[in-house]
Amino acid sequence: MGVPRAIRTESELTVRPAVGADEPFLSEMLLLAAFPPGSATPAPEAIDQDERLARYLAGWGRAGDAGVIAEAAGQPIGAAWYRRFVAASPGHGFVSEDVPELSIAVASAWRGRGVGRALLAALIEAARDGNVPALSLSVSRRNPVAMRLYRSIGFVSVAGDEEHPTMLLELAPHSPQAIQQRTRCGRRCRSGRVGPAPHGKGRPQQPLSDD
Ligand SMILES: CC(C)(COP(=O)(O)OP(=O)(O)OC[C@H]1O[C@@H](n2cnc3c(N)ncnc32)[C@H](O)[C@@H]1OP(=O)(O)O)[C@@H](O)C(=O)NCCC(=O)NCCS
Repeated sequence: MGVPRAIRTESELTVRPAVGADEPFLSEMLLLAAFPPGSATPAPEAIDQDERLARYLAGWGRAGDAGVIAEAAGQPIGAAWYRRFVAASPGHGFVSEDVPELSIAVASAWRGRGVGRALLAALIEAARDGNVPALSLSVSRRNPVAMRLYRSIGFVSVAGDEEHPTMLLELAPHSPQAIQQRTRCGRRCRSGRVGPAPHGKGRPQQPLSDD
């Protein structure tokens, strides 16, 4: 996996690689990402109470994990990270075991100032450096800001249900065949079931409409 480089995007903002000690801050950001704008502010225990949610950070720093932290005046204000999941215990945006799933959040006071875009740019660069073939994510349709950001970067909807599309950004040379191979579900994803096909092999799959 690639090691994110420190990037200075403007005088007060820096983006640096996430380290093990960042896990408490990443937990804060995971809560923001999992309960998007408009939701009640969740208690920190919400992560431990939701085993699937906890998977996004449990044992942070394991092989394949990578993340970036945005800081202003030395204080963390946002984070983006990815990790791989196995089919037996997937994330919400699971596509395949070789495609890590991305999470991102920016502290509310800092949104709309380019921090999220800078975080994604740094993380995608790290993923490319690490020869990661693609990144996936799950997003709520009730989160238009995030969806607009993802689409502008090149993520396309490939699976998921009406409310929570799974989006994919191909980092290897893009082809419809590559999406088919990495997206191991067809009609059943459109009908709301997400995850690998029972027999583990890809089925014909076209990117879903983002409209
Ligand atoms: C989604 C999120 C990470 C974006 O971070 P951000 O720092 O606010 O985003 P940026 O300022 O870099 O803006 C990136 C793009 O988002 C969109 N955007 C940002 N703020 C917006 C707003 N108020 N209204 C509409 N679009 C907006 C725009 O497309 C923007 O691109 P542009 O600057 O070229 O216009 C941030 O809003 C956030 O933390 N939200 C809560 C957590 C969350 O929803 N995480 C994602 C879960 S899937």
